[in-house]
Amino acid sequence: MRKDFEPKPWFFPLPVLIVATYDENGNADAMNAAWGGLYESDQVELCLSAGHKTTKNILSQKAFTISFATGKYVEACDYVGLESGNNVPNKLEKSGFTTQKSDAVNAPVIQELPMCLECTLIRQTEEGNII
Ligand SMILES: Cc1cc2nc3c(=O)[nH]c(=O)nc-3n(C[C@H](O)[C@H](O)[C@H](O)COP(=O)(O)O)c2cc1C
Repeated sequence: MRKDFEPKPWFFPLPVLIVATYDENGNADAMNAAWGGLYESDQVELCLSAGHKTTKNILSQKAFTISFATGKYVEACDYVGLESGNNVPNKLEKSGFTTQKSDAVNAPVIQELPMCLECTLIRQTEEGNII
């Protein structure tokens, strides 16, 4: 039976995006993002809070990767969405993920997750979203 939920920004299934970055010292960080998706055929958009370590890293390094979470690594994917690199400098290490620098951009690739977009920052929208 269908149910009316009123207007909501719901898309299903919703991928769990893991956004990985380096800070200015080359330390890797990653966070969980639900608010993201396609923008152009070769561009993605992320809606990230300004205070996140990830957001600061993207703005300083102009690069990031987006991996798609898998069920096998649900605990690590959950962890990076609950703890901040602002408070835990070795957050990514504690998550259990391992990384390797992308060949294409100055951002880490999470080795355990099979699919990864290697991205450069094009611009921030007026609302502050990352393109
Ligand atoms: C399921 C889930 C989805 C999330 N989606 C977003 C999001 O789309 N945008 C955002 O700014 N924060 C989102 N968060 C919160 C960040 O992942 C979280 O605050 C994280 O600790 C930030 O890490 P950082 O400070 O190391 O970058 C989400 C968290 C979870 C658990």
